[in-house]
Order: sequence, then structure tokens, then C-alpha cells
Amino acid sequence: MKATAKAPANIAFIKYWGKRNESLRIPMNSSISMNLSEVFTTTSVEFSKEYIDDALVINGNTVDGKEKERVSEFLDRIRKISKVKLNAKVVSKNNFPKGTGMASSASGFAALTLATTKALGLNLSEKELSILARLGSGSACRSIPDGIVEWKSGKQSNFSYAYSLYPPDYWDIQDVILIIGEKDKKISSTEGHALVESSPFYKSRIAKMDTKIRDIKKALKEKDFTKFGQIIEEEAVNMHAVMMTSKPGLFYWLPETLKFMLLVQNWRDNGVESYFTIDAGPNIHIICEGKSVNKLMKKIKELKGIKNAIVNKPSIGARLID
Ligand code: PMV
Repeated sequence: MKATAKAPANIAFIKYWGKRNESLRIPMNSSISMNLSEVFTTTSVEFSKEYIDDALVINGNTVDGKEKERVSEFLDRIRKISKVKLNAKVVSKNNFPKGTGMASSASGFAALTLATTKALGLNLSEKELSILARLGSGSACRSIPDGIVEWKSGKQSNFSYAYSLYPPDYWDIQDVILIIGEKDKKISSTEGHALVESSPFYKSRIAKMDTKIRDIKKALKEKDFTKFGQIIEEEAVNMHAVMMTSKPGLFYWLPETLKFMLLVQNWRDNGVESYFTIDAGPNIHIICEGKSVNKLMKKIKELKGIKNAIVNKPSIGARLID
């Protein structure tokens, strides 16, 4: 009883920060993201009566404690649905650094959901997989469908899932990820979400989310890159303003992050049209159209202090592999 799945990380253009329901991971607002072609997790899950406990191996290291508990609890949900009581060995590999706001838990839980359900003989719909993945890690629900995705907030679990707005080849927009820091973050996003209401700016953020979603969908429909870029940049700064003003304040940026935010704006003023977005970590995602990526990479290569730049196209969602 074994299956292997591969799932992409995703970058949110309109972000999820704050939950309506903590344990069910139902977000306060809908969000919009793109699945990424070059950053992903591959996970194998095997159930066997030979295993006396669940085991978790990530990037070659056996993992215990809280992280393993979270995975075991997640497996329990699926064991309950399939009425199988066996223990499992989960072997997972990320091709990018963990805990740096690159949604390693999104790709991780999306791959885990697909591999586990398949290993247990369940054939779930995309919607059912997205709901299950969400229960493992909120943004994981967006790594199940293809391309550019909307996660409808929904007020109940069955209505809170992601679906594809556009397939990967709809629009040639690319995400150049600059890896600035690779250390685990001090406060996980799970803990961060719980602090959101302590920010005096949170209410005003939430009040504008429906309009933002409507505006970005219009920009996507019209392939209006300038409008789209302005919305995503403003949105990223808005979310970080809420993070920084919560109690305690969450500062995910490093000095290099701010340096690149300003550089992107400067390059834009000088003819290379790109916009930044940033998740819960120091790394910066520079979004451009395919036709500008070479010019952008030339600018990036001229600079010092960049550990790695990963150029991503829109990707398909989670898939089973051999
Ligand atoms: O799914 P979580 O709990 O890792 O939260 C992700 C939150 C952000 O990456 C900051 C925003 C988003 O929508 O992906």
C-alpha cells in the first residue's frame, strides 16, 4: 500500500493571513496564487503492518516531535475515512530550503494528501483533496489544482477549497525567487496567523479583501500586467504591515529583502517591468512577464549577496508519480 506524489509550492498574489476557524484552517478571506514549476515536494507514503509506529523522514533526516505529530494527526484523518488502521512511513523531499516562507508546508501537505489517499485506495475529487490538504496546512489547498488558483474562503469546511482559475499556459508570467535567507523562521506561520487580530490594521485589511480579489481577477482576465503588478505589490506590503504591527510584531524581512524591494521599483522606473511579493519569510519573489525575464536576470546577476535565483513558470498542481 504505497503511493508517491509530487506537488508544487505556490506564491500567493492575494494572501491568506488570519483564520476564521483555527483548527479547521478556514481563512478570513479568499486568496489567489500561482503554482510554481521549479520548487516542489515529492512524498512517498507506505502503510504496512510491519510498522509499529508512523515514521517521518524529511530530506533524509528522521523527524520527531511536533512536526511528526502534525503529520500523524493528518494521517489519522485519512485513516478514519478509509477505515485502515495501519501505521505509515512517510518519506518527503523538498528541492528548496524549508521554513523560509517558501510554502514548504503547502507543497508538503499537498503531496502528502495525494500520496496518502492513493496509498489507502481512495479516489477523491480535486475538491475533496483540496479540503483535506487545507486541514494539514491552509495554503496547501492551493497546491492541488493547476495553474492560477483561487481559494474560496467559505465559512464552513466543505466550502473552503481551491480551484483552478486558469491553466498554467494561460499567461506567461514568471516568478524569480531570490533566496536571501535559509534559516528556519522563529515564529511559524501557524503561530503568526493566531496573532493577526492584535494588529490595529487588521480590520481595515479584511474590509478591502473582497475588492482586491475582484480587481485582481479583472486584471488576470484582461492580462493587464501593470494593474496586476500594482495590486500584488501593494498587497504584499499590506500583509507585512499587519504582521509587523501585531503583538508581538513579526519581522520576516532582512535588510537584503528591503534592498531588493527598492531595486525592483527602480528597475521598473528604468524599463524592466516587474513587481515584488513576499510571503512569511525574507525571500523575495519578483514577478515579471516571460518577455522580460532575460533582462531581469541580467540585472540580478550584476548584484552581490544573492545565494540563489530560481525562475519559475506557472505549474500544474499535485500529481501522482511512479
Ligand atoms: O498555509 P500557511 O499556514 O503556511 O500560511 C501561509 C501564509 C502566507 O504564505 C504568508 C500567505 C499565503 O497566502 O500563502
